[in-house]
Amino acid sequence: MKCLAASLVLATSLSSHAGDVEVLHWWTSGGEARSVDSLKQMMNEKGHEWRDFAVPGRAGESAINTLRIRALSGNLPDAAQIKGPDIKDWGNFGFLTNLDRIAQEQGWDSLLPKRISDILKANGHYVAVPFNIHRVNWLWANPDIFKDVGVAVPTTLDEFFIVAEKIKKAGYIPLALGEEPWQEATLFDSIALATLGAADYRRAFVKQDSDTLSSDKMREALVTFRKMKAFTDDDAPGRNWSDTTSLVIEGKAAMQVMGDWAKGEFAAKGKIPGRDFICVPAPGTQHQFAFNIDSFVFFKSSDKRKVDSQEALATLIMTPNFQRIFNKDKGSIPVRLDMNLSDFDSCAQNSFNAFTRAAASDKLVPSFSHDMAVGRASQRAMFDVLSQFFNNNDQSIDETLRQLRAAVMAANL
Ligand code: BGC
Repeated sequence: MKCLAASLVLATSLSSHAGDVEVLHWWTSGGEARSVDSLKQMMNEKGHEWRDFAVPGRAGESAINTLRIRALSGNLPDAAQIKGPDIKDWGNFGFLTNLDRIAQEQGWDSLLPKRISDILKANGHYVAVPFNIHRVNWLWANPDIFKDVGVAVPTTLDEFFIVAEKIKKAGYIPLALGEEPWQEATLFDSIALATLGAADYRRAFVKQDSDTLSSDKMREALVTFRKMKAFTDDDAPGRNWSDTTSLVIEGKAAMQVMGDWAKGEFAAKGKIPGRDFICVPAPGTQHQFAFNIDSFVFFKSSDKRKVDSQEALATLIMTPNFQRIFNKDKGSIPVRLDMNLSDFDSCAQNSFNAFTRAAASDKLVPSFSHDMAVGRASQRAMFDVLSQFFNNNDQSIDETLRQLRAAVMAANL
């Protein structure tokens, strides 16, 4: 990050066309593209030109790597999708525009839960604008397959294995999973939440508590995780998440454990919840909510017209109209908790109720697999450890626990 900070001066002095805003993000799947298109259009309607710099792949990993390279070469975009603890890092190094004035005008402090507004600040100042609340611990299911096999959608991990066995015998793929480290980690995220519970999940991944990271519960979560591999298909290696969701949509796979950006894929194909697909909390996580907040940051610029465009974008994102349109397409719920969701679908309404209940009962957790608990470097190390373990039966559980603990605790370094 230090070399990145050194290139800030160079970066801010380079400016492209005034009045336009170059945005680096990774929203490229069917549902994602649909949701970000509405933002591009609204910006254009306000007379600002959106220049797209979309880098697909691996839930943002490729995009963030590209961003770091651009920072090192002094060629930052005007806005970028950065989230979680990484916001503070970029902010502390002086890269980011202070958004306090906009936040005050729009009353962010009263619109956002404190757990969320804290993530968006560096040194007590807002430096990121939030889009949404994604729930990570969801199970997406194809109702026709469950009907055909004559089983119910599982609500516990034990039920999952009973049902998955029957689905496999009937010739379907029980669990749609793309073997990419982040997708595997997303699955483990929900298993860890179910097995540890919210308090220990936070103790392990947020407080980096060594005992919890080496506990019997963590061991149990790892065992459950590896057991799931038997219910995935042979084409899983390298398959991206949206192609994986398509397996459920097309009736080839029965279930996928994935955040609700998956709903954006169902919606983009005209599928209706309850009729064409089912959304339920990931097995064993009924009362918990692993959250993932998407946000944009804005890089400092000395070009007045560019700053105007950046401010217009930051302001637009938090307007109720945009929050409604974007989140309906994206699969998430608005981050403004003052909105009426009666025209949202049943999954979004469930998510909203689950969020408010979990917030009231202290069962909200920041999802470690989606950048909310630890920074990218530590998270990357966790992904590697989990992926090694999932894909290699010779990898011992003791060694995995040790490596996982080291990866999480590296977040303190
Ligand atoms: C982001 C989502 C995105 C998903 C898959 C997550 O980390 O928060 O907005 O849809 O990755 O690309």
